[in-house]
Formats: sequence, C-alpha cells, structure tokens
Amino acid sequence: MISEEIEKLKKEVWENFEKIQDLSHLENFRVKYLGKKGKITFLLKSLKDLSLEEKRRLGKELNELRDQLERKLKIKEREILFKEEDKDLGLDLTLPGRSFSVGTLHPLSQVIGELCDIFSRLGFEIVTGPEIETEYYNFTALNIPDWHPARDMQATFYLKNGALLRTHTSPMQIRTMLERKPPLRIIAPGKVYRCDADVRHSPMFHQLEGLMVDKDVSFADLKGVLTYFAKETFGKKTRVRFRPSYFPFTEPSLEMDIECVICKGKGCRVCGEAGWLEILGAGMVHPEVFNAVNYDTETWQGFAFGLGIERITMIKYGIDDIRMFFENHLSFLQSFK
Ligand code: DAH
Repeated sequence: MISEEIEKLKKEVWENFEKIQDLSHLENFRVKYLGKKGKITFLLKSLKDLSLEEKRRLGKELNELRDQLERKLKIKEREILFKEEDKDLGLDLTLPGRSFSVGTLHPLSQVIGELCDIFSRLGFEIVTGPEIETEYYNFTALNIPDWHPARDMQATFYLKNGALLRTHTSPMQIRTMLERKPPLRIIAPGKVYRCDADVRHSPMFHQLEGLMVDKDVSFADLKGVLTYFAKETFGKKTRVRFRPSYFPFTEPSLEMDIECVICKGKGCRVCGEAGWLEILGAGMVHPEVFNAVNYDTETWQGFAFGLGIERITMIKYGIDDIRMFFENHLSFLQSFK
C-alpha cells in the first residue's frame, strides 16, 4: 500500500533530517529524497496508476512533505553556514556570556527626582540657575542687609572677583521673579556651598527651593503643600509639626519637623530624644523681597520654602554620615539599586 509507504518514508525523512551535520551530508540527503531519482520523487511518480481520488489525496500529502522539507533544508543550510563561519573566526558560542554590572543613579539624584515628581504633581515647575552668584542675589535682594547676622550664619566662599558660591538656593526666588510675571509656582534644586565640614555638614551640598506667588496665597496653602510633600516623601502616616522661626526673606517664618522615623516620636539618639526631626524652613514671602523684584504687594502674596536634600536622604535611608554621599564606595552606591 502506497499510503503505508508514505508513512514509513515520512518517519525516515525526519529521523535522517535530524542527523544532518554538514553541507555534504545535507546535499546527499537532498539527492536521496528530493533528487530526480529520490524517494519522494519516485513515490510521486508511482501515484499515476491509482484512482483519481487517491491520486489527489496522496499527491497532496507528498507535495506537502516535499515543500516542507525544502523549506527546512534551506534553514538548516543557513545554520550550518553560520556555524562554520563562527568556527573560522575562532568563536565558541557555547561559552557562557561575560557578566556586566548595571549602574544606578546616585541616591541624591534619586531623591531629587522623587521630590521633583511630588512637587510637579502640585503644579510646580522645575527651574535651575547658576552656582556662582552675586552678593545681590544671594543676600541683598533677599532682605539680608550687610550688617545682618544672617550673613555670618552662612560661612560663605567668596571668589576673587567679588562673586561668591551661592550659600543657598534662595537666590533662585529672585532670579525667577525677575524673569517671569506672577502667578508662578517653581522649585529649584541644585548645589550650594558653605565653609563647613563634619559628619553632618559638607562644603558642597544640595538644596531644593520652592516658591509660589499668586493672588490669595495663604499660610494655610503653605502648610498644605508642605504636609503633602512630607507624607509623599516619608510615608502617608508621617506626622508633621510647624514651629515659628526666623528668616530675613519670609514673614512669618516657620520650620517643619516630622515625627522621628526611627523612634516614631518616643525619643532616641537620632532625634536627640526630641521625637521630632527638623526638615525644612519656610514662610510667607517678605514684602521687601517683593519690592526688590517690583511685584505689587497689594495684589500678590507668596510662600517660599527651602530644604536640604542630603538631610532628607539621610533621614529617609537612615544614613548617619553625610560624607558617604561623596566618597562613592561601590557597596554604598549599590545599596540604592
Ligand atoms: N535659605 C534657607 C537656608 O539655606 C532655607 C530657607 C528657609 C529657604 C526659609 C526658604 C525659606 O525659601 O522660606 O537655610
């Protein structure tokens, strides 16, 4: 029976196909089954004596086998050619791949990114500005006059030409207000510099400044924005408190504390037994600051805030030495993956 022979042939074809190793093998195989005197060709020819119906059915089956085999042989041929090429190049594709390490963003960059996300959700735009500043932007326009003790509070790096390295990001308030018209809502992350160095202080560190100016901006808006920021950054359950404070460029001024993340308010070494950690300064923009940029204080109110990125990051991740951020030990950096 031809149909039995076809079944047998199929089995044989696929078994032998798997054994093909090289090009000469492949050519012999092709001749043996698909050549003019090949087994498939022979069977196709022998269909001529069968009934029309059988011719159709078995012919179809044999033609399909032939087509499939031709396609597979082409693929096989290409595989063999590639393998031989690799061999010529001395490549061994069975060797395991070389491992490589993936870098990560620096923890401070990660936190700056998170803060930008949080304030963006409240409609704050991100702006940046120069690290080399003038006394005017860094102090004078912010209502810090020559004689003011605040200038001593911030041990400043002065440059030979009389310029200075900005001691805070607050000059970005002035630059933005001079450049734009109100209403506005901005945050300004960046590097700042002070002559100071110990486990808590680095001569270069990062701050993030915030400023919102609009009609009818109130102290309540400020508290709302800061509370949202604290809960997004440290967790929804984080409690906050506001204390009166003093800054020359805001009136009234406040400082915000969060409940100590270590002892949850009970008092511990980290919070100095207070149960609270100070995380930022803020207040309503001082009228003298608005005067410096020619904003009409009858129409516009605003609030501002400034926070230290290193401090936020240290609290968030329980880091007790600021120098870890700048020594760049791999084990430290890799723990922020
Ligand atoms: N510039 C202040 C500092 O470096 C932080 C600050 C406090 C910024 C109050 C503000 C603010 O915008 O309103 O210590």
